[in-house]
Amino acid sequence: MSMERILLTGADGQIGSELTARLRERFGTDAVLATDLREKPEHLPEGPFARLDVTDAAAMQRLFAQHRPTQVYHLASLLSATGERKPQLAWDVNVGGLLNVLECCREHSSRLFWPSSIAVFGPGTPRDHTPQQTIIDPMTVYGIGKLAGERWCAYYQTKHGLDIRGLRYPGLISYATPPGGGTTDYAVAIFFAALREGRYTCYLKPDTRMPMMYMEDAIRGTLEVMDASREALSTMEAYNFGAIDFTPAELAARIRERLPDFTIDYAPDERQAIADTWPRSIDDSAARAEWGWRPQYGLEQLVDTMLAGVKAGLAEAEA
Ligand code: NAD
Ligand code: SER
Repeated sequence: MSMERILLTGADGQIGSELTARLRERFGTDAVLATDLREKPEHLPEGPFARLDVTDAAAMQRLFAQHRPTQVYHLASLLSATGERKPQLAWDVNVGGLLNVLECCREHSSRLFWPSSIAVFGPGTPRDHTPQQTIIDPMTVYGIGKLAGERWCAYYQTKHGLDIRGLRYPGLISYATPPGGGTTDYAVAIFFAALREGRYTCYLKPDTRMPMMYMEDAIRGTLEVMDASREALSTMEAYNFGAIDFTPAELAARIRERLPDFTIDYAPDERQAIADTWPRSIDDSAARAEWGWRPQYGLEQLVDTMLAGVKAGLAEAEA
């Protein structure tokens, strides 16, 4: 029987709802405490849940003292588009929340997983096959917070010997729980719109290429980097983490091959300026070499899986 005790923050979101289920399969339902700002979770499976605002250091300390987690998955965050609308709140939650988690992990010697993002990069970064180590000059509040967070995680590793693992997630695509206000959300919304309305208006230009990944790959990679032996990992900051990259026009074309009446038009909004400073594709050779990362979902498989999953969900909602 595993002695691991797990705590997740921001667990009711797009990633946390699926990661919680996977961690409970592996470690047992009672070993995994899911927490979120929401009083009542909307997307989580049955199991232990507590409300936790990650900006409330005292409440976090109390929960850590009760649950004594050996592993923490800190997912609470405001995403890039929401962050631009609420910059101070985004900083408080994204950076203040991380500092609270780091202190609690230090006190309890908990291992920590904390996701960074392709948003850590900026206009000075090479946009094609963006290397692990390069110019990092984020322009969004969200990206500045990811850069600060990566440095804080490196600091706690060197200064306090904490075991912290991080991935720079690309845009994550899934159908179980809706995404929470990012710049890559179109790549989820398009599937719902295609099946419900047969048409979609995209807030990015047709040729906006961005790195993306199917959620199943993201969860597997998250568990794999946490399972890797510490000696194998040389990268102090979060790992570049790649799978596929495509544009809205390319995604729409793949959908149209399966739904011939599907149409798309384009009305770029403020998210275009964010996307224009992010990588078009990612060089994840450090993740591949150091802990064996290999994505499994290509674009065709992603489109088939998303259409089937969204269709089943819509049919269930109607039944
Ligand atoms: P999400 O928006 O779907 O979920 C975030 C959760 O955090 C929500 O359930 C929300 O209620 C909760 N939350 C917000 N403020 C909080 C607070 N003060 N205290 C506690 N909980 C709070 O986000 P997600 O997509 O699941 O992202 C999780 C992590 O992964 C974040 O760090 C995000 O930056 C990172 N990430 C996500 C993507 C993606 O495409 N989904 C890509 C790159 C990085
Ligand atoms: N999917 C995220 C966003 O668009 C990337 O971090 O904000």
